[in-house]
Amino acid sequence: MKNRVTEILGGSFPVILGAMRLITLGTMAGEVSRLGAFGQIAASGLSGDRLRSELELARRITDRPVGVNIPLYRPNATEAIEIAIEAGVKAVTTSAGNPMKFMDRIKGAGLKVLHKVSSVETALKAAEAGVDGVIATGFEAGGHIGRQQTTTFCLIPQLADALDIPVVAAGGIADARGVLAAFALGAEGVEMGTRFIATRQCGVPDFFKERVLNADSDATVLLGKEAMPIRVLKNKASLGIKNSDKAKEDAKLESTGDKSYVQSGGNPDTAIMPCGQVAGLVSDLKGVEELLSELSQGCRSLSRGLFSVFNEECQ
Ligand SMILES: Cc1cc2nc3c(=O)[nH]c(=O)nc-3n(C[C@H](O)[C@H](O)[C@H](O)COP(=O)(O)O)c2cc1C
Repeated sequence: MKNRVTEILGGSFPVILGAMRLITLGTMAGEVSRLGAFGQIAASGLSGDRLRSELELARRITDRPVGVNIPLYRPNATEAIEIAIEAGVKAVTTSAGNPMKFMDRIKGAGLKVLHKVSSVETALKAAEAGVDGVIATGFEAGGHIGRQQTTTFCLIPQLADALDIPVVAAGGIADARGVLAAFALGAEGVEMGTRFIATRQCGVPDFFKERVLNADSDATVLLGKEAMPIRVLKNKASLGIKNSDKAKEDAKLESTGDKSYVQSGGNPDTAIMPCGQVAGLVSDLKGVEELLSELSQGCRSLSRGLFSVFNEECQ
């Protein structure tokens, strides 16, 4: 299919692999792009050399566009942008910061940019700065969410009404029902993080995948509410950080460092595992190919079903 989001990203299906710090690297991003969606490498936590080598890994898998996600508040943001430009990346996503001061360089080099937002106010600022589209992160999403805590269901239509640029919905989407709902609300693409954790290609330890697969509807908790709230799975480690004194909670969260992102070591009790509320809906480990093909077939059959329901109603 073709729409404004596939035009920006260069894929054939407007589904984005949500960037996940130290998780979505070259192999997984390359595989997602090879299959027609948009894979991206999370630059957060990677040295410049490592980012270059992950881009190279992705390039070996596919010549389709692969993106880089750049959290703008991190000290390596400028370097990551330069590496993406050097590597011939066509589109980046930016998050956690004001895109304004980076736009001349990114747009001047001919790249497209989708910026992550969590309110109409930040979206309007991003649009004014010149981004090509926004990724709207709702309250239910895994990882860092906006302080505003607006749900995907409420945020997307407000953004669709307020903006001329396309909106991608992130947060709470794991199957074709979520994709269609997002489109009905006015989105022109979706970004999924949590659903991709429970895929064979995802490089997190098995215990993380198992926790996602066995999650119930109340499996996550929000930490660090005063600074940058982050949604993670409930376990001994995250519940141990939770504190009614938010400054203490933030300090404890900060002290968990990179180890918390379960790349090496850790276990189901000690690891901090960012994860969305939609984990309660994810109960089977899939390959990325199977996941994307189910999404696309599911959207087709579900939309036909909805069309006939509403068509009958209206006659
Ligand atoms: C483990 C994990 C790590 C994440 N790391 C990042 C990141 O580095 N940069 C970013 O912009 N978003 C990050 N996110 C957010 C995702 O890119 C995506 O927007 C979010 O997962 C969508 O919500 P969902 O989990 O309900 O699908 C992360 C999410 C998770 C679950």
